Amino acid sequence: MAKICILGGGFIGRFYAESLCGRRSKDSVTVVYSRKEATALRFAKDYNVPHYCTEMEDAIAHAESEFVVIALPNYLHEEAVMLCVKHKKAVLCTKPLGRTAEEALRMTLACEKAGIFAGYLEDLCYTPKFLKSVKSVEDGAIGRILWAKSRETHPGPHAEWFWDIEKAGGGAVLDLGCHCIEIARNFIGKDVLPVEVMCWADTQVKPIDAEDHAIGLVKYENGAIGQFEVSWTFRGGMDLRDEVMGTEGTIWVNSFLRTGFEMFTSGNSANYVAEKAETNVGWQFPVGDEAHELGYPTMFNDMFDAYENGTQPRETFYDGYVVNAIIDAAYKSARTKLWEPVQLPEWRGKRGLSKPSVYQSYDEKHWLIKEEILPNGDKKIILKDKESGAISEINQLAG
Ligand SMILES: NC(=O)c1ccc[n+]([C@@H]2O[C@H](COP(=O)([O-])OP(=O)(O)OC[C@H]3O[C@@H](n4cnc5c(N)ncnc54)[C@H](O)[C@@H]3O)[C@@H](O)[C@H]2O)c1
Repeated sequence: MAKICILGGGFIGRFYAESLCGRRSKDSVTVVYSRKEATALRFAKDYNVPHYCTEMEDAIAHAESEFVVIALPNYLHEEAVMLCVKHKKAVLCTKPLGRTAEEALRMTLACEKAGIFAGYLEDLCYTPKFLKSVKSVEDGAIGRILWAKSRETHPGPHAEWFWDIEKAGGGAVLDLGCHCIEIARNFIGKDVLPVEVMCWADTQVKPIDAEDHAIGLVKYENGAIGQFEVSWTFRGGMDLRDEVMGTEGTIWVNSFLRTGFEMFTSGNSANYVAEKAETNVGWQFPVGDEAHELGYPTMFNDMFDAYENGTQPRETFYDGYVVNAIIDAAYKSARTKLWEPVQLPEWRGKRGLSKPSVYQSYDEKHWLIKEEILPNGDKKIILKDKESGAISEINQLAG
């Protein structure tokens, strides 16, 4: 049984508690920290937490804290991780790991040096649909991955610190792009080096210093491309979609806004619908078990199983650091309007990969471009001459 201390009694802290408690789980939240006593007390009451603290270090050092779950604003992640290092407590940190790769690398190396377990709470890499998709990719169902796109857009975050560039460390790219980038890395291969990034980012709607909308491309050493689309200005709820294209197939995943559950209400009993839903009247797209659809319970199971088995979880601090490095390059590219290299002073994956050849032999003289059955049943074979490069076609008549 894991004894869990949650730092932060806000939005994600409560989601985490809901995922950890009340599911006949053998794990329990034993300590909660919040700056304000009223928040800590409410949280303790709502989730039956026996101890609460209003000092962060007291919560971490508490005898009933075995795992520390960091659910604090981005600017407090490093401070909280370093306190876990000091008190030798296993630590699980929400996304993004750092505001920059420099912060994230310091956290990663400090935990490794201290020999403490560290897990990166990237929930969207644990949703049921995502895990099944990644397994299909790993089994070769869609061949070599060429392009992995992930989109997270919603009408903007729910707390003031997100909108303060100093505290948050960035805008939609850091807040939402961190999910999208790690999703694409999982599909393309976490050991494949991200080489360079091109990003457009702008502040189109909100009166803030950070970007509220961005699109980025991440080039990988094996020729694959990752794409992220993020926005804090999207209207209509929270849109979480992934698209993966391989040489042998395609995957489309819609994780939130269309899960197959649609409902119309006149507003007779207006209530909470789903995260970031903008209306509770008219046609609704609710999410059955929100915590589960977002991957939280599976994510915690993986973390605690890995700890007990002495292995690494699927998502580690090192992954969080690679994601931060890609984001740093994206911010630089948005300023310079150029492809910017991903700076990874610590890289533990493969090196020296190259794009596989596009040439597939049809016969001794030709490369195959494509084959297609036409509406009249004929088969067309489009070829390229190996010597002259001339393009030709063979038309095989139906029957
Ligand atoms: N899907 C996800 O994984 C997901 C979703 C939402 C948020 N998050 C992450 O969780 C973290 C917290 O976000 P949130 O949405 O819960 O924010 P929030 O503002 O709702 O909650 C943050 C908590 O930290 C407390 N806090 C704020 N400033 C503090 C300070 N100076 N010292 C101590 N405590 C302080 C707040 O009172 C609150 O209890 C962020 O890093 C965010 O990126 C992750």
